[in-house]
Amino acid sequence: MSNSTNNRRILIVYYTQSGNSKFVAETIAQEIKADTLEIKTKKSLPKSTFFKLFVGGMQVVFKIKPDLLPVDKKPMDYDMVIIGTPVWASSFASPFNTFFSQIDIKGKKIALYCCYGGSKGKTFDNMKNVLNGNQFIGELEIKSPLEDKSEGIRRIKEWVKTINI
Ligand SMILES: Cc1cc2nc3c(=O)[nH]c(=O)nc-3n(C[C@H](O)[C@H](O)[C@H](O)COP(=O)(O)O)c2cc1C
Repeated sequence: MSNSTNNRRILIVYYTQSGNSKFVAETIAQEIKADTLEIKTKKSLPKSTFFKLFVGGMQVVFKIKPDLLPVDKKPMDYDMVIIGTPVWASSFASPFNTFFSQIDIKGKKIALYCCYGGSKGKTFDNMKNVLNGNQFIGELEIKSPLEDKSEGIRRIKEWVKTINI
């Protein structure tokens, strides 16, 4: 562990569609003592790239809340929460619409990361709006880290050091 985490409890909440956000979560969890919570939808997106982008994009634009599988950890039980999402339609992925509407997160230290293919768009701004009432202590945007894992790991490790845990 490169960071002194004292006894603070840290939860990494993430959604992933194709593994990048999971890779970041697992890399962070190797650096600091943290629990992870992967949020999963009951229904998958279509397999074809076109329909996947279309359906996922529409869910973001229309603020659809896809049904989630039950979760077994609560952000309010932790001191700090790291939230990771792929960028969808220049924002956070639609499963977080559901998660944020079902789960209370207030008065926490929150660090955000996103994985993107082109640009982060308004992902962090939109997340911070939905999550008002918390203290934001870090942001990391990382382009498809699975394409260059060692560079991804290097950037993630550097970032973890900058978060004031
Ligand atoms: C429905 C959908 C919409 C996307 N929209 C964007 C976008 O607006 N901007 C962008 O840079 N990448 C976009 N992407 C690409 C993903 O953000 C990128 O591949 C990311 O690394 C995926 O993370 P994951 O593997 O954790 O799912 C989109 C991907 C999907 C599936």
